[in-house]
Amino acid sequence: MAFDITEYLDKLPPIPLPGMKSNESIGIDIGSASLKIVQLKGGPGKYQLVRWSVIPLAGPVDAEKPDKAEMSPEEKRTAATNLLKNYRGSGKGIPKNAVASVSGGSVIVRYVKFQKLTRKELSKTIKVEAEPYIPFNIEEVYIGFHTLQDVMDEGKPKMETVLVAAKQDQVNQRVEILEGAGFKAAVVDVDAFALESVYDAAFPVAPEETVLIANIGHTQTNFVIIDKGLSIVVKDSLVSGNSINKAIVKNLGVDAKTSEKLKQTHGLLVNPQEKEAALNEGKKEAVGVSNAIASVAKDLITEIKKLIEFYAMQGAERQVNRVIISGGSSNIKNLVPLLSKELNLPVEKLNPFIGIAGAEGVPDEYQATLGVAVGLAMRRPGDVK
Ligand SMILES: Nc1ncnc2c1ncn2[C@@H]1O[C@H](COP(=O)(O)OP(=O)(O)OP(=O)(O)O)[C@@H](O)[C@H]1O
Ligand SMILES: [Mg+2]
Repeated sequence: MAFDITEYLDKLPPIPLPGMKSNESIGIDIGSASLKIVQLKGGPGKYQLVRWSVIPLAGPVDAEKPDKAEMSPEEKRTAATNLLKNYRGSGKGIPKNAVASVSGGSVIVRYVKFQKLTRKELSKTIKVEAEPYIPFNIEEVYIGFHTLQDVMDEGKPKMETVLVAAKQDQVNQRVEILEGAGFKAAVVDVDAFALESVYDAAFPVAPEETVLIANIGHTQTNFVIIDKGLSIVVKDSLVSGNSINKAIVKNLGVDAKTSEKLKQTHGLLVNPQEKEAALNEGKKEAVGVSNAIASVAKDLITEIKKLIEFYAMQGAERQVNRVIISGGSSNIKNLVPLLSKELNLPVEKLNPFIGIAGAEGVPDEYQATLGVAVGLAMRRPGDVK
């Protein structure tokens, strides 16, 4: 799975295809809470971890307003550029080629059937062909496509194609951050495809299963349903870690910074007995926090159920067998058993380093956070058809 946004605009970094793994590169996941950096050596089946880092971005930037937990998007971009510049200067052998990603409301992935054309022909007409499927102004997006297979549709030869449209300003902002820090933007990927790369590398023995991955971050959650190694459903949502912080602020009347601390300390109380015991022991705060987390988790569960249903409606044998969660918010205490109970499916936390040598020292709480970055680190410049 991949697409190439450079065919039309030569200045842009490409979105990749698996294939040649030549030059060195480093994966940089620019999140709203932190920067995640991973460099891998080697290729599929024999990856080796060279370096990794999680650099926090969020936090008060204004000494006059110590309660201000969130920076503006612009402040975050400046902070990200400066932190990456420092990081680049801090170690020897850090590759210049960097791979970043885009996601969220400004990226659309669609499976469509186009009339049969050569890649070259489709490149010329892609804007016109793609326009009906893209809910953005076609002049403001970069379009990538990847043809999967030829099919017959109402007696006509067609080709099943993955269409990806990314708003230009989000792609450009990523490129600006990397270049501002002295990196070269070698590839711009999509968060969901990076997760697919990790899944394919970590679980090569399970090609028949369908898995839903939920990458639960700070301001967004990326969902991807992977069917036989292919990202069939890609969707992003705003229900995420920060939604929990807001719920805690609202329910407990604390400030934003405290809400973050309370969330990490208490997590979820999963069953009524646990809650009752906590109340009996006078732990009102723990129960309040758990309730706030549970209200957001409920929204997340509803979204996952809807996606599973949407996928099931597309064919007789379409059934999600397993759910994997990643992102910093997958560390919420007891989230795995809650999801498993509510979804009635096996749920686990992602360890993106399965099968990667030299990753024994990465602490447990960072593993799932680094999921997207590991996927980005598997891309290489020239990794495009
Ligand atoms: N132990 C923990 N318990 C609960 N939440 C946690 C824990 N550790 C991290 N988080 C939450 O994870 C979130 C950060 O996750 P992540 O690093 O994946 O986000 P991001 O990639 O920076 O953000 P986004 O992709 O949404 O822009 C924060 O909301 C943080 O509070
Ligand atoms: Mg993220």
